[in-house]
Formats: sequence, structure tokens, C-alpha cells
Amino acid sequence: MKELIRKLVETFGPSGVEEEIRAVIRAEVEPLVDDVRVDALGNLIVRKKGTEGEKRIALDAHMDEIGVMVTYVDEKGFARFTNIGGVSPLTCVGGRVIFANGTMGVIGLEQKREDRSKTPKLDQLFIDTGATSREDCPIQVGDAASFWRPLVAQSSRYIAKALDDRIGCAILIETLRRLEPTVHDIYVSFSVQEEIGLYGARTSAYGIAPDIAIAVDVTGTGDTPECHPMAVELGKGPAIKVKDSRMIAHPAVKDLMVQSAQEAGIPYQLEVLNAGTTDAAAIQITRAGVPTGCLSVPCRHIHSPSEMVDETDVENSVRLLLGVCRRYSETG
Ligand code: CO
Ligand code: ZN
Repeated sequence: MKELIRKLVETFGPSGVEEEIRAVIRAEVEPLVDDVRVDALGNLIVRKKGTEGEKRIALDAHMDEIGVMVTYVDEKGFARFTNIGGVSPLTCVGGRVIFANGTMGVIGLEQKREDRSKTPKLDQLFIDTGATSREDCPIQVGDAASFWRPLVAQSSRYIAKALDDRIGCAILIETLRRLEPTVHDIYVSFSVQEEIGLYGARTSAYGIAPDIAIAVDVTGTGDTPECHPMAVELGKGPAIKVKDSRMIAHPAVKDLMVQSAQEAGIPYQLEVLNAGTTDAAAIQITRAGVPTGCLSVPCRHIHSPSEMVDETDVENSVRLLLGVCRRYSETG
């Protein structure tokens, strides 16, 4: 899966500008499914028909990533910016951002800040493209950029920007590749605009009208120095969500995932996440409600340009989803 993951994380796609990443994913999944559509918000929704097809299972991963957007370009050609999703100034300074037209920018920090011991605010940072004036600046107000880092695979870890949530996209593509015929229809939504408010998943789930849904996304861990206590570690298996800050996973879906993991001998962890949420929170309250769960890939340094996941957790996430599709076909 390494080359697939590389392709996905290195493709441009901040929230609202998902055309490129959608085209890359579409090319991967089109040969694997029975139909493909793009809804009004830009969600890529594919279906693999079941042998009977009376029920619908929806799987979701968001294809957008965090980033920045230009708010102002000054007369010297330096750009000020706002955040797209959760961006910390701490992970910005000295970093590189890339725009849709390929322009690279370096994020600089005002030197004459009042209290230099304090964490700077985003509005004390600027993007330097090397331009010398507003006129020759290759970027303009409203242009979006993503952080730029290439993928590194080191021992059993992947390190990259946008593993949140391209790793979920990779897991769902791989699941479609390995999926055996099922009784029920399997829908997969590669959703837009998660990072700014779970918007894509809301319309895509409404359109699919699933009987059961599972979002695949990353979650935090409790295995780094002096971090908040959390019973999730890298490499100990996919995490089955019990609760996060915006949802309680539907107990039947959570149990289906636990039983599928136990049946296949897949290691798993139970996840209670204090801060943060996923598309699952939006899906479960669409229409008259959808029983929804979430499969989380343990991830360190979330929303930094160097997120980290373990390859065994990725592989076990694919196996777990295949088990869930099979088990739901037999028992659902
Ligand atoms: Co995120
Ligand atoms: Zn995410």
C-alpha cells in the first residue's frame, strides 16, 4: 500500500479545493465498483452492488486536508493567511506550503513581536514566495495552500502530512480491492470539507441513506512524552471508537466491529477521545438517524505536517473492515 499512500498524501487537497485529490481517488476506485457519482458538494460516492442489495452499508473517509488561505498580499509581496481547519502556529514557522498552481511558500514569523517568549498568533506569520511586490506575487487573496512534506516510510511507521485522513482513503481503497461479493450494497464516500465542520459527510450520508455507517479517520494517542492520558497506542491495532467530543458510537455498530475483530484475531483498542471528532458525528444525525461507528487509526502529531501512523494498524484496519462487511452480510 506504500505507493498508494504516497500518492494520496502528496496530492493537493485542502478543504474546499478537493478536485485534484478526487481525481486521483476516482482513478483508483473506478475499476473496482459498479457506479461512481459526485454530489453537489463534491463528495465522491461509489457503490459496490450486493447480491441482494436490500440494505446499504456506508463507509466514509474524508479526502480534504487542513491548510491555509491567503487573506492579504502586501506591497512587498508577502501574504497574510487564515487557517483552513485546525492549524497551530507552533507547527507553521519555517514550514513550506504549496498552492494549487505549484507555488511554494515559506512561513515566516514577525521578528518585532512584543512578547517573544509567547507562542505567536497566526496573524503574526506570513507566507514568503520570494516575490518582491504584490504585482509579481504568484498567489492572491482566496488561494488555498496545503503544508508540504513528502512521505517517509521508516521501520514500520509512515510519516507524512495529511495522513488525516488520506490514510482512511487508502484503507477504503484497499478494502474495495480485496472485497469479496457481499449480500448488501457497499457504499464508500470520499468526503469533502471535514476539517472545517464535517460538511461533506452530511450531504453524502443523506444521499446514500445507509442502514449502517462507519467512518474511518485518525485518532490521537497516549504514547508520547507528557501527553494527556489516553488508552490508545501506535501499533497496537485499529481503535474502535466508543466516544469522542461530539458523538457516542452506536453500541450495535461498535459491537459489530469488536466481534469482527475477535472473530478474525485482529488486535484492537477501544477509543475514548477527549478533544476532536470525525464524520461519524455528522452521519449519525443525518435523516432520521443512522447507526454509526468509527474506526480510528492511531496517529501521532495530528494536524502537524509530520503525522505518524503504524503500517500494521493500517493493514489491520483493512482486515477489520472486510470482516465487518462479511459479518453484517451474515447477521445484519
Ligand atoms: Co483532522
Ligand atoms: Zn480527520
